[in-house]
Amino acid sequence: MSKVKFYKGGEQPLELHKVRVVQKLHLVPIERRMEALKEGGFNTFRLSTLDVYLDMLTDSGVNAMSDNQVAAMLRADDAYAGSQSFIRLQKAVEDVLGKKYLLPAHQGRACENIVSKAFIKPGNVVPMNYHFTTTLAHVQEMGARVAELYYDRAMELKSDYPFKGNMNIEKLEELIQTEGAENIPYIRMEASTNLIGGQPFSMANLMDVRRIADKYGIMLVLDASLLGENAYLIKQREDKWKENSLGEIIKMMTGLADLVYFSARKLTSSRGGGICTNQRELYNKMEALIPLYEGFLTYGGISVREIEAMTVGLYETLDETAISQSPEFIKYLVTEMEKRGIPCVTPPGVLGAHVNAMEFCSHIPQDQYPAGALAAAFYLISGVRGMERGTVSSTRDENGKEIPADVELLRLAVPRRVFTLSQVNYVIDRMHWLYDNRHLIGGLKFVYEPPVLRFFMGGLEPTSNWPNRLMEKFREDFGDSL
Ligand code: F0G
Repeated sequence: MSKVKFYKGGEQPLELHKVRVVQKLHLVPIERRMEALKEGGFNTFRLSTLDVYLDMLTDSGVNAMSDNQVAAMLRADDAYAGSQSFIRLQKAVEDVLGKKYLLPAHQGRACENIVSKAFIKPGNVVPMNYHFTTTLAHVQEMGARVAELYYDRAMELKSDYPFKGNMNIEKLEELIQTEGAENIPYIRMEASTNLIGGQPFSMANLMDVRRIADKYGIMLVLDASLLGENAYLIKQREDKWKENSLGEIIKMMTGLADLVYFSARKLTSSRGGGICTNQRELYNKMEALIPLYEGFLTYGGISVREIEAMTVGLYETLDETAISQSPEFIKYLVTEMEKRGIPCVTPPGVLGAHVNAMEFCSHIPQDQYPAGALAAAFYLISGVRGMERGTVSSTRDENGKEIPADVELLRLAVPRRVFTLSQVNYVIDRMHWLYDNRHLIGGLKFVYEPPVLRFFMGGLEPTSNWPNRLMEKFREDFGDSL
């Protein structure tokens, strides 16, 4: 993609696929969007897709499937046990990820449940380059805690640091020495670290983590949900790997980990998840948990049709034109927003563009959820649904006090091969308008707060009538435009 140059210059991503199946979208008027927001408790998770124009909530399970994936779904072998679909997936995992033993699970967090149950004991600590929401919840459910070991530069939102997902090696060694290796069930590295803006780690860093893991005899677990994208950015940004194929980079990464798990909703553009390893004793520790929580060992709660799509999707992860599409669109989106003064996480990462709500809405205190407010405001004025990644997605401590998130982000996911460039330009235009009118955005407060993963179903309301003022200004500036 990035290799195509235009006659008159200018950086613009070019689609190397064509659209063959389409779905009609609904861009409803702002008055309806206001109603939808109220019905959904100012929480974009609770919107109906009938009220959403561009769904940038996530890439999870919504990347476009390829013709070959859809075709493969038709040959699925429906069998409770011994399905040929699973045998084909096992072969793909061995070919692409280099791991012999595979346990299927219905999605990424189900893998986290199995891994946590198999290896974590109460009181343990699990070092990570950064947590993911569901990962943290599973570790805590086992009575253990997470230690986030990143370099300070990872939290500088505007930066040219290419590998914000790197684990802080000095802190890792320090932690092992203070906690004791026996209290650390494993070290977890997350490819394309989601919550800090889809930021990669370098191969050099992963090798350093492996060295420390070996030194202290600790297992290394890789969350490979966004593996292809991390590999793509290693190829782009780490000199030593620029001549290697994605396949070689991926194999090197997975080869450094004892255990690899993934959400297939991301990695393979389908459904499902998997845990794989080359060590039989690790497999044995988890095996019995799959029939208990997921389903028989040859389907693990995944439909066999989706297993076929996973298989093809895994091989497609080796195709640079497929894997680069989303990161290149994100780069365009971030670059254009930054040109208009909109504060974004840089360098552009993967999964989506991340707008810095703390700066965008610097007038909104963190306990009034600036990222949640920005997500609601942006939906209201555009019909585009993003996702809050800030304090709403955080939690409270044992005394009920808010734990403020390190960063307040509005994530605008760019699922693979789903949106056109004119749709991305619409996002830029509406975000530009909102930025110029940002003083009209106000805060939010919880009116319904579930105790676990509250961001999914929680209900909020505005702290004043700011949504109305924003709507009035929209009508003033855009007339009867949708
Ligand atoms: N690990 C990472 C790094 C993830 O990004 C996700 C999901 C999971 C694990 C859990 O996988 O959804 O299949 O259960 N991320 C989605 C997102 C939900 O929108 O970023 P899952």
